[in-house]
Amino acid sequence: NWKLTNYIEKTVAEIKERVGDNKVILGLSGGVDSSVAAVLIHKAIGDQLQCIFVDTGLLRKNEDVKVMENYGEHFNMNIKLVDASERFLSKLAGVDDPEQKRKIIGNEFIHVFDEESHKIEGAKFLAQGTIYPDVIESQSVNGPSAVIKSHHNVGGLPEEMEFELLEPLRELFKDEVRKVGEELGIPHHLVHRHPFPGPGLGIRILGAVDAEKVKILQEADDIFIEELYKNDLYEKVSQAFVVLLPVKSVGVMGDERTYEYTAVVRSANTIDFMTATWSRLPYEFLDTVSSRIINEVRGINRVAYDISSKPPATIEWE
Ligand code: XMP
Repeated sequence: NWKLTNYIEKTVAEIKERVGDNKVILGLSGGVDSSVAAVLIHKAIGDQLQCIFVDTGLLRKNEDVKVMENYGEHFNMNIKLVDASERFLSKLAGVDDPEQKRKIIGNEFIHVFDEESHKIEGAKFLAQGTIYPDVIESQSVNGPSAVIKSHHNVGGLPEEMEFELLEPLRELFKDEVRKVGEELGIPHHLVHRHPFPGPGLGIRILGAVDAEKVKILQEADDIFIEELYKNDLYEKVSQAFVVLLPVKSVGVMGDERTYEYTAVVRSANTIDFMTATWSRLPYEFLDTVSSRIINEVRGINRVAYDISSKPPATIEWE
């Protein structure tokens, strides 16, 4: 595809020219936009790009390991992995209001990122995976980079954070970003990932968040996603995940009575995320997912499937 190749060559040349021999930092989330931006910039300036991956403790199972493998090892990029999970979890302890949780997670992310970016000496540019719809909407819904973005948009760059912005995907739509990503050699499944909200599992654990609930939800969610891939359904739905309710119910396991949490399996089909329908997933498939979650995840003894459309329900539960 010459148009894509052209775009990549042109953009790589522009990045080289603009950055010179300066350093660029980038918050890598593992999502499509920041990953494609990272690989594109890396192609232009190699080791002058320093990525920062913040593990909030609210990410999907093994996300840190996967990001380090997929981008650190495979693409040989510099990535600083920052495990900030304890900071996030302690700030969240006992907080059950969704907007409060969002605020805490967003603020903490900015603190951690700010700290880390100042440890990188001589960084002049801050790269972001801003894409065209973000530019026109100004408020993106995608991932931690959106947190930095909206932060900047609201109050301008924090005083000491005097970086120049580098946004090589600003002119592209999502499908173009995916094509550029594939052209750059990022595996298909990585550029076709569902969106994942910045506050992560923090808003998929209803009510107060703690480490035990995160672990339970990560396991359940991982089973659902794995089954979607296995059954060739992942790309037929727009967003899919598991929600953990703070509701316990009675069950029976062997001769034992159990009293454990309820998980909700959620999958939505949508074009613009403004309206959505619940995915008509096959009963047999849902049965497999439910059995696996109940049998393999300690702490969950009941699974429900969310059959609400948006509006009036939202895609997320908080
Ligand atoms: P709702 O639940 O509003 O979700 O129907 C629509 C889309 O937005 C995502 N979402 C968020 N993304 N920070 C984000 O970065 C947030 O606080 C947030 N809340 C919802 C949601 O995952 C879906 O893709």
